[in-house]
Amino acid sequence: MPVIKFVKEKKEIEVPVGSNLRAEAIKAGVNVNCALSGVSEGIDEFVHSFSKYANCHGLGLCGTCRVNITSGMENTNKLTLAEKAKKLVPVPDPIQSLAFIGNEETMRLACKTTIHGDIEVETCPELDLFGENFFS
Ligand code: FES
Repeated sequence: MPVIKFVKEKKEIEVPVGSNLRAEAIKAGVNVNCALSGVSEGIDEFVHSFSKYANCHGLGLCGTCRVNITSGMENTNKLTLAEKAKKLVPVPDPIQSLAFIGNEETMRLACKTTIHGDIEVETCPELDLFGENFFS
């Protein structure tokens, strides 16, 4: 069975092939619905608590379940239409589109990601607005 390693939480779980990343994270007690991270500690904490409950519950609409697949991207399904839209269309959700900067190839929506092999996941990835790729 594939293993999901949640890097920040230092937690590893075994999951059935084809399982949904967000669903498995919730079962394991890991919150993937963070919306924004990297603003400030107080704001991040408030936003994470709010987003944990105020989200689209896996419909691929809200974008709060962004995660960074730090290893094993090839062991996930292809980008879904919902993910491509979040990545490419900055209207009406510019923050969610900006969040992909610096992690264009590895950022996924946990609710639209299925697992077919071992992966490592960074939950609540921070915005990288001034990273190496921002002005290139
Ligand atoms: S839970 Fe809303 S996009 Fe994933």
